[in-house]
Amino acid sequence: MPLTFPDGFQWGAATAAYQIEGAVQEDDRGLSIWDTFCRQPARIQDGDTGDIACDHYHRMEEDVALMAELGLQTYRFSVAWSRVLPFGKGAVNLKGLDFYDRLVDALLARGIQPALTLYHWDLPQSLQDLGGWANRDTADYFAEYAALMYDKLGDRVTRWITLNEPIIFTTFGHRTGVMAPGIRDLGITAKAVHHAMLAHGKAVQAFRGSGRAGEIGITNANTSFEPADDTPETAHAVELARDFDSRLFHGPVYGRGYPISVLRYYESKDAPFPIWPGDMETIAAPTDFLGVNLYSRSLIAADPGRGTGYRLAPPTLPLLPMGYEMAPHALGDFVRWVSNEYGRPKIYITENGVCDNTEPDATGAVNDTVRMDLLQGFLRGLHGAIADGADVRAYYLWSLMDNFEWAFGYSKRFGIVHMDFETLARTPKASARMYSEIIRRNGMEA
Ligand code: NOJ
Repeated sequence: MPLTFPDGFQWGAATAAYQIEGAVQEDDRGLSIWDTFCRQPARIQDGDTGDIACDHYHRMEEDVALMAELGLQTYRFSVAWSRVLPFGKGAVNLKGLDFYDRLVDALLARGIQPALTLYHWDLPQSLQDLGGWANRDTADYFAEYAALMYDKLGDRVTRWITLNEPIIFTTFGHRTGVMAPGIRDLGITAKAVHHAMLAHGKAVQAFRGSGRAGEIGITNANTSFEPADDTPETAHAVELARDFDSRLFHGPVYGRGYPISVLRYYESKDAPFPIWPGDMETIAAPTDFLGVNLYSRSLIAADPGRGTGYRLAPPTLPLLPMGYEMAPHALGDFVRWVSNEYGRPKIYITENGVCDNTEPDATGAVNDTVRMDLLQGFLRGLHGAIADGADVRAYYLWSLMDNFEWAFGYSKRFGIVHMDFETLARTPKASARMYSEIIRRNGMEA
């Protein structure tokens, strides 16, 4: 029995500006916090940087042709804020805008629908110099930048994503410091979280104000949490994990505010959320869809000794190179949960994929079988969640091609197209062929 997806279901792939573009000093692009971070010693594995990455800035047309060859129906990319506004605000860089203008036209000419992420972690350095996400004004600068993009591209782009994974760039950028801007401070993290969510809300309001047609939403990072055992204490710990990880970022978007457990935790550490009157209404500005990124599950155990009340239990499934458990059931499970929790919103899977570092064999073929198996498993689970009533309309595979995996540099490959980072040759892997076939059939074998 074939598993067929609903009519009109869209199949795509995703990337992000700093991870693929390169050309960081070209055409008057301003510096971002990732340019700075990569230049600091010992921040990135092997000292890698995004200076060249996949050189997509110069090979954009070739890459769009490749997308068409694979049969992609939609493509999610991000705009580098500092390419279009080198200082984050003020003077507009027309050369930077022109790149995205040409990208959008190239996609549309091949019948591929653009899905544009406004912020995929590359804050202009000039705004970091003013305090970055700890500075409340950053939310206004973001809305101004968003409005510029609606104005320039909103005649052709009709799917907009405000922020990519706020939990990751706030927590890893400001609390553990393993991502740009490399800060370790709980008080700054609380500010960053709130100002990022405020930025999201203001950008949604600016979209409605722009009069442009189309849809807008946010993309959150997610893990499917499972109890490590079946005691009531562990069941409670799973809910706490969902508070800190999911409800912190979904709750305010759906008008439920931040979870009390999380607010109390931050207050107990003298790191309160800087909420002003009216902020929560702004953040709850109605959105059109929910972007879901999901890669794995985590087992959760109760830990009353910790302020949060829970901890991650040791993994029990085989691990992928990123340390994620191989848990293909996690996608369907999480989608069911989030769909029920927030009243069955329209969902786009804005990222799902597999780190599989398989290199070309002697014939040049890349047989990334682990990726292929897991992708099929993820899609089976997703199909099941849709059958159970989740309103999922599109799936974006992460990623179109191997790219700069942040602090891991080029050591982690997520692409269905292999990248030779010396020659920049692009070679579709076996998973790319498999994905093309899934797209062609709008489904797969059960
Ligand atoms: C989530 C992020 O949005 C993306 O930038 C990253 O490369 C993938 N996950 C894989 O870790």
